[in-house]
Amino acid sequence: MNIFEQRESNVRSYCRNFPALFHRAKGSLIYSESGEAYIDFLAGAGALNYGHNNDYIKQKVMSYLEADAITHGLDFYTSAKEKFLSKFFETLLYPRSLDYRVQFCGPTGTNAVEAALKLARKIKKRPGIFSFMGGYHGMTLGSLSVSGNLEIKAGAFGTSNHVNFMPYPHGFMEKIDTIEFIEAVLNDVNSGIEKPAAIIFETVQAEGGVIVAPIEWMQKLRQLCDRHNILLICDDIQVGCGRTGSFFSFERANIIPDMVILSKSISGYGFPMSLLLFKPELDIWKPGEHNGTFRGNQLAFIGAAAALEYREITNIEQEVKTKETFLYNFLIDKIASISDKVKIRGIGLIWGIDIADFGDSSLTKKIISRCFELGLIVERTGRNNTVIKILPPLTIEMPILEKGCFIIKQAFDECLAK
Ligand SMILES: Cc1ncc(COP(=O)(O)O)c(C=O)c1O
Repeated sequence: MNIFEQRESNVRSYCRNFPALFHRAKGSLIYSESGEAYIDFLAGAGALNYGHNNDYIKQKVMSYLEADAITHGLDFYTSAKEKFLSKFFETLLYPRSLDYRVQFCGPTGTNAVEAALKLARKIKKRPGIFSFMGGYHGMTLGSLSVSGNLEIKAGAFGTSNHVNFMPYPHGFMEKIDTIEFIEAVLNDVNSGIEKPAAIIFETVQAEGGVIVAPIEWMQKLRQLCDRHNILLICDDIQVGCGRTGSFFSFERANIIPDMVILSKSISGYGFPMSLLLFKPELDIWKPGEHNGTFRGNQLAFIGAAAALEYREITNIEQEVKTKETFLYNFLIDKIASISDKVKIRGIGLIWGIDIADFGDSSLTKKIISRCFELGLIVERTGRNNTVIKILPPLTIEMPILEKGCFIIKQAFDECLAK
């Protein structure tokens, strides 16, 4: 037994599916200490959109470190933060006419979700929040309360007060107009469900099984929030930063959420960082009312500013479109054709292969284990883990993307033949 199995808590998760000792990584490849190379279709669960150790970003980070520049600065005004903010506004927000304030939250995505929920409740003076069935927003108590997965909530007793889950347009719920349903709930004085301060949603439910919200649905959701004076919070932690083909995933619906949450790939280099954006009139925080020691990781600011430069230089969103077309065609031609029970869903560079209809939730485990033996890291997700989620770095080279896809095909053929 290794030291991890002996000493690390039982709560460890990803490592169980990929039992190698990893040491080095470059681009879309990750290497074990003994030298095996694995193609990475997990990309730090979405934190490595620009690949491992991206050279452009690395150079900026190294120069910063070499200059003995500030590595921890609380929320001081620093040159690193200035660089990031200027770049963020110049390259992203101003060109999109997005007028947001920026709040730097604690290091991980869930910290920004907590801040959003707290601020929304404070603004509207209402405790309620609506979330969506299948949604995932993190593991701290507030974020957990708005996440759908009952298994991960099981031990956190009594923490879901004032949260109600509405149907997301998927599965059986596709048979109803889910926005009309929410409208009816809000209009029914006997619904038993209080009007919320905010509705939090993902444009693509990633952990929920790669479920892509239709454009019209998002537009209707925006209108519903306006009609009822409810704040709309877009959790763009996993599918923001270019993953769906535009920097913000809600751009494809041409809507403007009241609040937007970013984390994972915003720092560009896998450094912890999270942001909450909100309309200026919502900035009713008192100084220090939502504080924290590790808000604004300086190296993350440098990485993030460099990542924004890199995405412009490389026109990365155009690349996403090209790779999206390849992936879609591959998955339809080579994987969906295996059986009627295989369903393909996705957008940009997040795709799911849903095999729930086989009625065997161990099948995805067999497939990803075989993929790993063949040199590919790919995870499963969704209800009962029945969806294989393809989430490569956006920078992945075409031959490596193709190779990874053929490994999935081989693993499917072998595991379904058994
Ligand atoms: C949509 C979404 N929200 C929130 C989170 C939580 O982020 P973190 O794990 O950094 O706390 C995740 C993580 O997977 C996520 O995908």
